[in-house]
Amino acid sequence: MDIHLSEEISQDFYKEVKHIPADGEFLKLSAFVHHQWTNRLMHSMNVSYLSWKMAKKFGWDEGAAARAELLHDFCLFDFSQKPPTGETVAFYHPKEAAKNSVRVFQISEKERDAILSHMFPSLSSILFWEIAVL
Ligand SMILES: [Fe+2]
Ligand SMILES: [Fe+2]
Repeated sequence: MDIHLSEEISQDFYKEVKHIPADGEFLKLSAFVHHQWTNRLMHSMNVSYLSWKMAKKFGWDEGAAARAELLHDFCLFDFSQKPPTGETVAFYHPKEAAKNSVRVFQISEKERDAILSHMFPSLSSILFWEIAVL
């Protein structure tokens, strides 16, 4: 599968994340329906770009924001099924996404923390944004 970005998408954004959609395992996210009307790959691309734009506007670490949000749902699991751990999907998928992201892309601790906390922002994730602002 090749991904073609609109010319409206900033090349500065693409430079931050281009290694991620080039990965075959990550592209498998396109096989999963997400939020009923899209797939998990497109959802992740959209969230990543909006996060990159927001972080850039506020002077935060836009590269980390773009990568963390692109990978926040990097979980090759059908969310309509019961997770193998017995947890709800809301608790299960951030951990799987973080684990997969570390394994495949060697993300930073800051990015890992953002992925882990994306469903339920914690004090540490708020601190991430605070630190990014300073
Ligand atoms: Fe998501
Ligand atoms: Fe999620």
